[in-house]
Amino acid sequence: MLRIGMLTSGGDCQALNATMRGIVKGIFAERDDVEIYGFQEGYKGLIYSNFKMLTSRDFSGILTVGGTILGTSRQPFKKMREPDENGLDKVEAMKHTYHKLNLDCLVVLGGNGTHKTANMLREEGLNVITLPKTIDNDLWGTDMTFGFQSAVDIATDTIDKIHTTATSHSRVFIVEIMGHSVGWVALHAGIAGGADIILIPEIPYDIEVLAEMIKKRAKEGKRFTIIAVAEGAISKKDAKLSKKELKEKQAKKAYPSVAYEVAAKLQKRTQQEVRITVPGHTQRGGTPCPYDRVLSTRLGAYAAKMILKGEYGYMAAIKNGETTKVPLSEVAGKLKYVDPQSKIVKEAKQVGISFGDE
Ligand code: F6P
Repeated sequence: MLRIGMLTSGGDCQALNATMRGIVKGIFAERDDVEIYGFQEGYKGLIYSNFKMLTSRDFSGILTVGGTILGTSRQPFKKMREPDENGLDKVEAMKHTYHKLNLDCLVVLGGNGTHKTANMLREEGLNVITLPKTIDNDLWGTDMTFGFQSAVDIATDTIDKIHTTATSHSRVFIVEIMGHSVGWVALHAGIAGGADIILIPEIPYDIEVLAEMIKKRAKEGKRFTIIAVAEGAISKKDAKLSKKELKEKQAKKAYPSVAYEVAAKLQKRTQQEVRITVPGHTQRGGTPCPYDRVLSTRLGAYAAKMILKGEYGYMAAIKNGETTKVPLSEVAGKLKYVDPQSKIVKEAKQVGISFGDE
């Protein structure tokens, strides 16, 4: 009997179900003596032994269904070693559930924080396999995470719609796109949507550069400017502050988010009307795009092979178009940032997109 525990952790995304379907179909293609324990709401389910026994049928018909049939939650890695409100040792509790159920392995679908905990569980002696989920595409060790392309599609669609209304008004439009630490979604959706300015955390901006660009465009008769701004975009000034100083500054100004800060500053400097659109969690919603369905199915099938062969301690990944595996010890705790010197950034600049830095 092969006993597999499975959980989805952290923020959800469109292709979680598609990936689990790939894993389960891949395993049942070769074995039918399989038990699947679906832990509810991420690591919480493993900690408190809250699970459902699932059959292959539960994974049928979910390729196109967004969200996760297991539910998810954020369980910060930092707090994993802290006892819960009743004094329970969470790490010991997770190990206890795993051993009590006599699991052969734990399959974890998640992003950056999830991988730190997965690696810790591996170090604690559990057999762990992970799959790279996040709309942010910021997981180190894989060229692509599932969820990213679906989010880019939605963010691009938002910019496209702003474009048609923008042609009617002389205004500055800011679209705030998900991504606190990295700017992959904003970069791709910004290019795909024909944004004039893209602001991402990796390339701090100068507000005066932005204001000048907007004024110049107005002088040239361009009626509107569209700015794609990542949630974590930061000014050159603020980038010099320590984390603590930045937090204090943000608390004083109390802008609801970066888009509002940029809007207020630009309105003052350009006298142009500024409008803000925040697609927010719609970027994680709905059905996975075809690219993600293919990626998830491939990663799922690859992970199934890893499970069948007993190759534990790895994340299933995609590199140069091929599925592969990367040791969890290498993945945990690292982010994949947009390189400001990368070709994609240079090419965007080449066609006139400003990143507000020069
Ligand atoms: O990590 C994925 C992500 O969607 C980020 O892009 C975003 O900043 C964050 O999650 C939002 O988190 P929550 O769903 O907890 O509000």
